[in-house]
Amino acid sequence: MPVTFAKSTLLLSLLLGIGGAHAASAPDASEAALASAHGIPHPAVIAHRGASFDAPESTAASYKLARDLGADYLEMDLQRSKDGVLFALHDNSLLRTTDVAQKFPERKDSPASAFTLAELKTLDAGSWFNQAYPDRARPAYVGLPILTLDEIIDIAQGNPQHKPGLYIETKEPKQFPGIERDLKNKLGERGWLKPVVSTADKGTLQTGEGKGRVMLQTFEKSSLELLQKEMPETPKILLLWVGEGGMAANSSVSFADSGAKDKAAYYARLQPRDKAEFMQWLDFAKANGAIGTGPSAALTAGGAQSYFDLIQPWMNQATHDKGMLVHVYTLDEPVDFKKAMDVGVDGIFTNRASELLKYYQRPATKSVNQLLEQNGY
Ligand code: G3P
Ligand code: CA
Repeated sequence: MPVTFAKSTLLLSLLLGIGGAHAASAPDASEAALASAHGIPHPAVIAHRGASFDAPESTAASYKLARDLGADYLEMDLQRSKDGVLFALHDNSLLRTTDVAQKFPERKDSPASAFTLAELKTLDAGSWFNQAYPDRARPAYVGLPILTLDEIIDIAQGNPQHKPGLYIETKEPKQFPGIERDLKNKLGERGWLKPVVSTADKGTLQTGEGKGRVMLQTFEKSSLELLQKEMPETPKILLLWVGEGGMAANSSVSFADSGAKDKAAYYARLQPRDKAEFMQWLDFAKANGAIGTGPSAALTAGGAQSYFDLIQPWMNQATHDKGMLVHVYTLDEPVDFKKAMDVGVDGIFTNRASELLKYYQRPATKSVNQLLEQNGY
């Protein structure tokens, strides 16, 4: 079922300060209204690198599945190829998620940005998934290519029944001077910097058609400033991190010296240095046009995407008190969905859009398996 925003509800929300939310947990009306005013679903389902639990991250299989499940946003990490094309890849290097070591052995450790688009397109970005997750492997994942932003936009627009928005991170933006302007130019060229009035139903706007159809996100303060300069009307989130490049930490003990059993346990011990440090980041975000923050969370089961607990009640309250939203990354399990909703977050980045949609009582009408097969995987 597509998430729609009745124009009249949106207007009323803006005028009266009320919101039309559809959460399993009761959301705070003022945050629902704030989200609604920006055209952002509340709570939002942000498909992290697509439906990346079930298909290779940032590939067509992953993004089409997230779209067809009914996710509100397709999340991506934006980089720029050597010849200037915007594409989606999380890691700086191609080693983890492609066969670069076979195709370009001498350049295997080079950053992805050192490759032309034609070179990137020769890589197999799907087979690694089959090896890493044999229980979720599919023959059709073999050979899936890296995608350009243009191709992801095509996917977002490709299902008339549900048009998700785009949630775009400038990844390591200091590597890519001018990427904020490149992004603005591409989104403008594709007509994504203004709302679309649905021809099918003139009374409603889907997520990918309204004001919040694009969300911009970054860990880098300087990139937030540039995004705000280039796209002042587009909602932005400042991602939060503790340590290098982020908030000052309450400890300078390294992972190696910490005695922690793994990175997740190490991160879970770290906190912002003090409340003033956290508040300084909120103030910077607000002053530079962010409509919210993207804090990390410590996951119940740990794992590679378990970081610092930055969704403590006082943190969320402080963010809301400044009139900003909280979109937490990256949760996959109902136990963590519940913990996050109980402390008042306004949206969740997830690798398992199917599970989060169920949790929010917005289940897809078809199974993951059915949708993957429907899309030829
Ligand atoms: O963009 C939010 C979340 O994706 C941040 O973590 O490292 O997965 O990009 P990462
Ligand atoms: Ca990201």
